[in-house]
This record gives sequence, C-alpha cells and structure tokens, in this order.
Amino acid sequence: MLTIPQVGQQTTSHSHQQPAVLLLQKPFIHGSVAVGRGRCVRRPCSFPRKQTSRVRVSLNKQPSSTTKVVVSDTTEIQKSVNVKAVLTIQVSSGGFLSSIGINQGLDSITGLLGKSLLLELVSAELDSETGTEKSTIKAYAHKSGNDDNETKYESSFNIPADFGTVGGVLVENENHKEMFLKDIVLEFTDGTAVNFTCNSWLHSKYDNPHKRVFFTNKSYLPSETPSGLRRLREEELQILRGNGQGERKTFDRIYDYDVYNDIGNPDKDTDLKRPVLGGKEHPYPRRCRTGRPRCETDPLSESRNGDFYVPRDEAFSEVKQLTFSAKTVYSVLHAVVPSLQTALINSELGFPYFTAIDSLFKEGINLPPLKEKGFLKNILPRLIKAIDDSDEILRFETPETMDRDKFFWFRDAEFARQTLAGLNPCSIQLITEWPLKSQLDPQVYGPSESAITTEMIEEEIKGFMTVDEAIKQKKLFILDYHDLLLPYVSKVRELKGTTLYGSKTVFFLNPDGTLRPLAIELTRPPIGEKPQWKEVYTPCWNATGFWLWRLAKAHVLAHDSGYHQLVSHWLRTHCATEPYIIATNRQLSAMHPIYRLLHPHFRYTMEINALARQALINAGGIIETSFAPGKYSTEFSSVAYDKQWRFDLQALPADLISRGMAVEDPSVPHGLKLIIEDYPFANDGLVLWDAIKQWVTDYVNHYYPDGKKIESDQELQEWWTEIRTKGHEDKKDEPWWPVLKTPKDLIDIITTIVWVASGHHAAVNFGQYTYAGYFPNRPTIARINMPTEEPSEEFWNNFIKKPEGALLQCFPSQIQATTVMAVLDILSNHSPDEEYLGEQIEAPWAEDAIIKAAFERFSGRLKELEGIIDERNANHELKNRSGAGVVPYELLKPFSDPGVTGKGVPYSISI
Ligand SMILES: [Fe+2]
Repeated sequence: MLTIPQVGQQTTSHSHQQPAVLLLQKPFIHGSVAVGRGRCVRRPCSFPRKQTSRVRVSLNKQPSSTTKVVVSDTTEIQKSVNVKAVLTIQVSSGGFLSSIGINQGLDSITGLLGKSLLLELVSAELDSETGTEKSTIKAYAHKSGNDDNETKYESSFNIPADFGTVGGVLVENENHKEMFLKDIVLEFTDGTAVNFTCNSWLHSKYDNPHKRVFFTNKSYLPSETPSGLRRLREEELQILRGNGQGERKTFDRIYDYDVYNDIGNPDKDTDLKRPVLGGKEHPYPRRCRTGRPRCETDPLSESRNGDFYVPRDEAFSEVKQLTFSAKTVYSVLHAVVPSLQTALINSELGFPYFTAIDSLFKEGINLPPLKEKGFLKNILPRLIKAIDDSDEILRFETPETMDRDKFFWFRDAEFARQTLAGLNPCSIQLITEWPLKSQLDPQVYGPSESAITTEMIEEEIKGFMTVDEAIKQKKLFILDYHDLLLPYVSKVRELKGTTLYGSKTVFFLNPDGTLRPLAIELTRPPIGEKPQWKEVYTPCWNATGFWLWRLAKAHVLAHDSGYHQLVSHWLRTHCATEPYIIATNRQLSAMHPIYRLLHPHFRYTMEINALARQALINAGGIIETSFAPGKYSTEFSSVAYDKQWRFDLQALPADLISRGMAVEDPSVPHGLKLIIEDYPFANDGLVLWDAIKQWVTDYVNHYYPDGKKIESDQELQEWWTEIRTKGHEDKKDEPWWPVLKTPKDLIDIITTIVWVASGHHAAVNFGQYTYAGYFPNRPTIARINMPTEEPSEEFWNNFIKKPEGALLQCFPSQIQATTVMAVLDILSNHSPDEEYLGEQIEAPWAEDAIIKAAFERFSGRLKELEGIIDERNANHELKNRSGAGVVPYELLKPFSDPGVTGKGVPYSISI
C-alpha cells in the first residue's frame, strides 16, 4: 500500500536546516507599499517584536521585492521564517491539465504524491564566509485548488535566518507534460508578498532535465546583480543562446539567427524554388533559426517539413490561440482558402459585373462541405455563416468605407486622401527636383527622363502657379514606384495572368490642404525587341481619357498595395523586428530593466512571423498568388530593404523628414513642421511618438542616470552590437547606425523599436479590411496591360465598347480577391485579449514607484490622444480626415474593443 507523504513536505538540502521552527508573529519589514499583480501589498514599517531572551530575528523585505532574513549580531540561536509559495498555472488545452494518454496516469500519481513541481529558493547573497553560493531550499508544491482558467499549487518553506535575500526560484516540472506558469508569489505570515512574474512554459524534466530559473520582479543592471544570482543570470543567457547546432524541438527556448531560406519548397516543385534572402545578393533581416535539414534538391534551402519552430514562450497564449489570432489565421489559410479554391474552379475568372462584387457582401459564396463541420462558423463568425445545418457560406461584412459611401473608391479625391490617411501613408513624398528622372541604368531600362512634362503639370495647375513655383513652395508630391518595380516588369510579365509597370503619380497640394492627383506615368522597360514604352495619363474630361485614367489608377493602386503589404507592413514591422526579439532574449537577462521594458512589445511576433512563412509569404502562398510582384514578392521586399531600409529612418520624425513631409522647427509642437499640415498619420503619429518617447525617457533615465552606466553595461552593449551585426548583418557596415553611448542614444533606439512595433504597425495593419476589403479601392494586382499599350484591335474595341469590362478584367480574379479579403478580415481583427499600449501595467513596472508613476503619465497621455483624435475627426476644416462619407482617421487611437474596429494600438506586432 502506498503511503502518501504530506504534501508540500520540505526536502531542503540546506546545511543549516533547523529542526525547530519559531514562527514570527509579524516580521519586521523595510520598504514602502509595493504592488503586485494589480493589488496592493501591505508593507508595514514596524512590527511588535517578539522578545525571546536575546534573540532578535527580523524578516527584512527590501524595497527591491526580495526577501531577507536578518539576524542580529548577538544571535546565538538561529531562527527560521515560514513562507508559503503559491504558483499559478494557466489551464491549457494542450498542456498538462488536459493531458490524456499514457502519461496521464503517471502524472496523476505524481500529483497525488504532491510532487508535481519541485521548487528551490535561491539566496541572492553569497556565503559571507566562504564566498560561495548558499545551498538552495527545496520543497515540492502540491495542487491546492483551481477554477476555470487557473490552478494553484502551493508549497511551504522554512527559511533559515542566515539564508539572506531570496532572489530567485528554481522550478522543475516533474510531470510528463509542460505547464504554463503565470507567476510565483511568496506569501509571508503578515500578509505581504514577493512576486515572480513568469508567464512561461515549464518543460517536463523528461524532455529537458535543466531546471528553470525565475527572478523576482526587481530589475538589475548586470553590474548590480546580487552576487548570489550572477552565475544563474549568465547561465540562463547561455541556455537561451544555445550552441547553434541541431534541429530545434517544440519545447526548446533557444533564440538564434538564420537567413530566410525556407520560403521556397524546391523538393515539392522546382518552380517553388526561391532565392535565399539574407546575404550579399539579397540582403534581408534574419529570422529565428529552426535547424531543420536542407532540401534534397537544393542544398541552400531549408526543408519545410516539420514544425516552424519558435522558442516556446513566443507561442500564442492558449486564450489567443483558441479563440483568435493564430487559430483564426490558420483556419482561414488552411480551411477557407482551399475551400474557396474548390468553390471557384476557374482560377483566372474575374468578376463579370460590379454587382457580382456586391454579392460577396450580400449573398456570399457557397462553400463546399467543410472538413470540420461547425468549427469554422464558430471560430470565424464574421466570415462563415450557416444557411442551414448542411450549408455554409462565406459572406463578407461590408467595409466601413463602402458602408459610408458606395462610390468612395471611384473618386480621385479619395485616392489622394488615402495617401495621407489610408492604409499606406508611408510612401507619399515631396518632389524636390524637376524634371523627374529615374536613377536606373538607361542602357538597360531605356531613357531615364520622365514623360511627365512641365506643360502637362501646368495644364492641370494653371490658375494656381507654375511648376517652378510649385516646387519652391513645396506643393508637388509623388508616389514613386518606378525604380523599385521597373527591374521586375519583364520577369513578372512572363508569369501567367498578370502584368506590371513602373509608375509615378504626381499630386498637387490644393489651397484647402487636400491633394489632387495630376498625372500617372506608367513605364515598361525594353523587352526583347520592343523599346521602352511609357505613357502619361491625366484626369480627363472626355470618356475615353477618363477610363484610361481610371485604369491607370488601378495599376498604381496595385503597386501601392504590393508595396504596402511587402514593405510598409511585412518588412518594416514584422520582419525587421524579429532580430530585435532574438537579440533581446540572447543578450539581455530577464532581470535586465531594458528586457522588461521591451518584452511586451515583442509578444507573439515570432509566432505570427512563423505563420507568415508557412502560408503568406511562402512560394505559391497567398502574397505571391495575389499581389502585383507575383513570385518575386519577397525578393522585391529584399530590394526595398537593400535600397531603402535604415534603422534611423524608422523613427517617425526622421521618416517624415526623409520623405520631405516635414522639416525640423524647434518653435512648433514636436519640433517638426509638417509640409502638409493635415496629414492624419503624421498628426496623430507624432503625438503618439512623443508619448512613447517621454515614457521611454522616464524609464531609461531611472536606470541610467549617466552615460557611464550605458557604456559599462555589457549586456546592453552586446545586445546593440548583435542587432547591428547579426540580426541586420547585411547592413552592419552602414554608417547610419546610431551609437549607444548615452541615455539619449538608448532612448532614441528604444523609442524607434517601440514605435515600429506599436504605432507604425497599427497604422498599416488594422485598417486593412476597412480600406482593402472592397478590393476595387485597393486591388492587389492589375492583370492586364493598359489598352493603349500596343493593343490588339479586338482589345481596343472591347475597351471602347465596355470600359467597365476592362477594369473588371484588370482587377484581381474572383479567387484572388476573395482569398485576400478573407485574410485581411482576419488580420484587421483585435483579439478579445489584445494588449493595448499603455492599458495594463506590467507587474515589474508596477513594483517600482517611479516607473509606476511614469507609466500612469504615459497611460494618461494616451487617453488624451483619444480625445485629440476625436476632436480632429470632428473638425471639418481637416478635410483629409473629415467630410461627407469619409471614414474618420482612428488607426492611431490607442484603445479599441475586440473585432475589426479600425482603431487600437497594441503593444506588439501580434497579427
Ligand atoms: Fe501585421
């Protein structure tokens, strides 16, 4: 018969274990009120000492949230203190608590024996006599209760009086399944507590015998690390860095770099071979190394078999996974898209009428029987609707743009307005030189002079000014996709069912602050025997000219859609941020204040990026099959990285200045004078930028009062070096990398990283369905040439007879359009557990009074920004964000409800 030992029984290895325990009534505690996990923890400033002869024992909890047992010099008998450790485990569907199968029986027995988790308290101090680490104090934790979402485990410890401050806890998971540990709280008999915020998966000791270490919520610069924790701090970083060998397993926590060599799938089909992105030929940021074997047919490519590993703690939380983000994205990609392909057999078929597009929002598309019946309509209620028990349809919600103004997409004013307040407000730039000229080699691409002439422009702006005056007065702007796209034109034209041009679109700044499109130039380079072809289209007062202008706009919008998705969105946010995450985990300890500052900005980014490599940016994936550069899509983003990406220009002010959209002016708010005063992305973005910068300034200055501490912080210096030389290795020799010597340098670097992950990403992500859900507003691809480019007689006649037909033919096919709509709907969605910038304070920030106060100011400024944005949207003078049928600009409004709301700035790039 089994004898079950008392749960929580201590198995200390401590050499000074005391057989008798003197429980303190109310230990002495130094420090002020501390806050843990949203609740105040009382910290009394004195206690009624229990006098027992000459013995005086006190429990000294430093303001540092560590625990210390202090014994007076006169102590002759050592006393111990009773502490209860409470662990909160999140109930998970795939982890320990629902484990089924052969190991469940074993784990149940382990649990009954009270041996699910082995804890060891680590002293922050070295032994003063020997200078070595003190022995840890061990105890098993046992299950003490649970509700729907959480299970509590408890253990009790007797901390000997000479143990010193508790600085860490080692945890070993004795089960066969992993567990998600939210936090550990050490509770003292007087009701006070010390928190260890963990939010981490505990691997089973059978998978990996290495114990996990968690430090208290107090942050330490490396040089200030308590002596008893130094070894653990360094060893933990070594574990996270790994040795660069072998294939990663799902329970691993290793962060390492690799090139993008898993986009292609040459083993499946030679046509799915793609160049390696990362390296001299195709510079690119690095991704997380997975260590999978190479392809059989191409030794340069990594096999796509098996998991797309991300370090275990980068995976979506169970809540997020089960209800939204990953699961919904995955469902759309793996269930809805294939079923669309079955429902719409002809992959090249366009929409025959505009009413057929409208029917997507009314009748929907009948889907063939889905594999997992009922599953999709539960998880994607916005998209999948049941007609009856047996039939399911895909029916789209009407985007807000369309809902407010059915004809919004057709108007030039809206086309121009969206360059300032739409989905891609990052491309418009000031024209500073005239005439326009290409930088490409004329030997290869034909004459470099633009066909947009002074006369053409003056024809459009006469009555206002000459071109010379317009340039001087900064009134001419451009969307320039000429030099980036032209090298791809002949290659893309070889692909089936598509075409491409280089494009330039010129705008004039009206006296009322709105932009007016003046001219679109489309260019084809010499191809074979054919010379360069280019033509300029202008808004027109005759029917043929008008429809040509409308078709030219469709081409430009396809260019802008491709650039938006591949550069403004994927490259500049998702892709460029992954190396920051890897470097932060490899070089900054979890107890480093900068790690703790950045951590919420990195949540789930690696996971969503891995998903993108699986099904969005992969060879033959959704981007390649639906966007303008086709199979050259990711390669195109590598060209943009090579030619355009600079770390310093990711800062919003520098970005605006570099595009000529602002000039420095210390006399105005934000120190920047906007050339277009009503530029909603910049107007709201600069308020947000300043709020982030102030918060980062307060935080950084608290930990680094001077530059010496920055220069001597080895972890921080290694971190920045690694971002530059490993994460963005192909740009390592660029002169524009900021140096990291002063607190100001660090503030600028961190503010830039935070802005990209929060504000910039929100601006280019959460309006995707609003602006591109009705695809005629932003077609992702233009499939046929302009009717004026060497047309056949039949093509020209058809265009003259029914120009609307040419536009529909040019637009994405039915399958391209609906696939993209379904994906954009999901990508524009906020999860119910979305974490918005400045909404909830992180537990470690809350435990430092100065940081807590700074965060509250930050949060207050974001709430002010909400009011500012509402006010601006209500101001009818601001015509780029307010007016009849115009969707207000709310993309940088910090907070949001769940769903597709077109607002809300999360901390991180999580979708
Ligand atoms: Fe995104």
